[in-house]
Amino acid sequence: MSRKTNHREREITRQIHRLFWRGNLQDKRALALCYLTRIPAVAAYNTFIPLVSAYAIQAILTRHFDKVGPFALWVVVLSLLYCVLWAIGNITVGKNAIKGSEYVQNQIFTNFLQKDYEFFSNAYFGALGAQAARLRDAYNNYGELVTLSIPKQLTIVLTGIAVIAYNSPVLALVTLVSMACVLSFTLWSSSWRLQFRRKVSDASSDVAADIGDALTHGTTVKSFAMEDFERRRLEKTMSIWSREQYKSWVSALPADSGRMVLAALATAVLLILSAHLYRTGSVSITVVVLIQLYVIKLVASTIDIADIVKRYEEVMGATYQPIKTMGVKNSITDPPKPRKLSATGDYTLQFHNVTYHYPDANKTQTAVADFSLTINPSEKIGLVGYSGSGKTTLTKLFLRFMDVTSGKITINALDIRDMAQSDVRGIISYVPQEPLLFHRSIAENIGYANPAAKHPAIVRAAHLAYVDEFVTELPKGYDTLVGERGVKLSGGQRQRVAIARALLKDSPILVLDEATSSLDSHSEKYIQKALQKLMENRTAVVIAHRLSTIQHLDRIVVMDKGKIAQVGTHHELLQDTSGIYAQLWAHQSGGYIGVEIT
Ligand SMILES: Nc1ncnc2c1ncn2[C@@H]1O[C@H](COP(=O)(O)OP(=O)(O)O)[C@@H](O)[C@H]1O
Ligand SMILES: [Mg+2]
Repeated sequence: MSRKTNHREREITRQIHRLFWRGNLQDKRALALCYLTRIPAVAAYNTFIPLVSAYAIQAILTRHFDKVGPFALWVVVLSLLYCVLWAIGNITVGKNAIKGSEYVQNQIFTNFLQKDYEFFSNAYFGALGAQAARLRDAYNNYGELVTLSIPKQLTIVLTGIAVIAYNSPVLALVTLVSMACVLSFTLWSSSWRLQFRRKVSDASSDVAADIGDALTHGTTVKSFAMEDFERRRLEKTMSIWSREQYKSWVSALPADSGRMVLAALATAVLLILSAHLYRTGSVSITVVVLIQLYVIKLVASTIDIADIVKRYEEVMGATYQPIKTMGVKNSITDPPKPRKLSATGDYTLQFHNVTYHYPDANKTQTAVADFSLTINPSEKIGLVGYSGSGKTTLTKLFLRFMDVTSGKITINALDIRDMAQSDVRGIISYVPQEPLLFHRSIAENIGYANPAAKHPAIVRAAHLAYVDEFVTELPKGYDTLVGERGVKLSGGQRQRVAIARALLKDSPILVLDEATSSLDSHSEKYIQKALQKLMENRTAVVIAHRLSTIQHLDRIVVMDKGKIAQVGTHHELLQDTSGIYAQLWAHQSGGYIGVEIT
């Protein structure tokens, strides 16, 4: 592993601790109370009860039977003390854990939400959801480690060693050295095993992604009868996971056996040593008994400590990917000091020699090439061209979902990269080519554009976009849930909801990407009217498949392979009979762009 990845991994580990401790410290009082009760409880149970028992045994062996009763009473008192303190600790820690979980969940959700467009177009949503869930589970495990397991073992070891040292420093030293041997072996072997656990974690991420991807697109899978294909696909990912899981499991065996052998050796050495010390009269029989009582506990402790280490690794392994995802930098960011547009309401949009390459596209393939255009305030532009000519890319650049490779886009001479993204998108109503809806009610989907909008405003927008035509027939009207991503609505109905949403947003600039492509010509005629109303006094960029939709607009821009091929009004463009526009027009049947000719 290179030094750079090592450094990166250490940085991620630091970030995990930082995030989880912020979670733990959400309720500082509860956390403090938990430590203040659990530590004395553990000491009472694991250190002082054996100590009292050892004195009681000594009393029996030396035939001081009258002393046994009070010792027995002490055992009861200590046990009760343990119960009360432990219960208080559990209640407070529960409160703290819930608050921390909420905090961690919110952090990851907020972080993922703030990622840019590119992140979401590349991410597997199943995997993202699984990562968020994994982080929350890992936080709970981490919380248990730092508030329960680790303080418990520390208390047992430290108080146990202290009591032995008080009676016989030599025995304490030997106990300590034996434990250190067992532990360092365990730690060494587990750091070696971390690589296996990481691979398991990555593989289970892939499995979750495959399951998520296939199930999210369940309807597509069904329509192609590809259930078997998807199952085989998952089997392949699953077999990688099984292999890694098996390797990780096998890698635990030498470590576990080695540790057990070392622990047994340590116990044997301590037995012989305490017998020797008793024979020479250096220690009393209490200490011999105590050593036996403690050594069993301390050996058990090393197993628990090893378990802590194992669970710690698990937490780190499971958190690695989510934290890495949280750390993915956005390539689109707001400038440190965003500039504001003066609120004139008149916006001049300019594309200056805009060129864009998709990062994963062929070097020679330029989605938008040297595109220059000025759109005057309130001007309505139609954008046409064959599929793949760069129309959608251009709108995405304008919304700053991604940054131009070269050139610039300005609004009133202000580069959109110098503005806050929310300011740019705030003045644009955008209806994407394939509008996706939330699995929420129709009213909520429309109201999304303006959370302050009251129901009547939503209904008005719905009416203008002809949504009410089909809503009245739905079982619960505007309260009908639309199914995940809007699958319960037809394409045309989804588009109408998206148009209603844009109407409600009421922004000065309108960008429609084939917003009417899924409408039948009957409803399109109506929507056409609504759109015309919507476009009044606004700047509009309308991409349309159907040329009749844009033929009355102020100017029509014809794109070809990312470049501007023609600009003009419908009539001007038709004059050039060999131009693309005239060809498109001629190929239309019923107003559609027909066969693709490229
Ligand atoms: N996310 C992407 N990654 C790589 N290439 C893309 C991506 N999206 C679109 N393209 C390519 O960019 C070109 C323009 O696409 P697009 O703007 O969607 O065209 P249009 O909207 O005119 O049909 C096409 O060649 C397309 O394959
Ligand atoms: Mg497109």
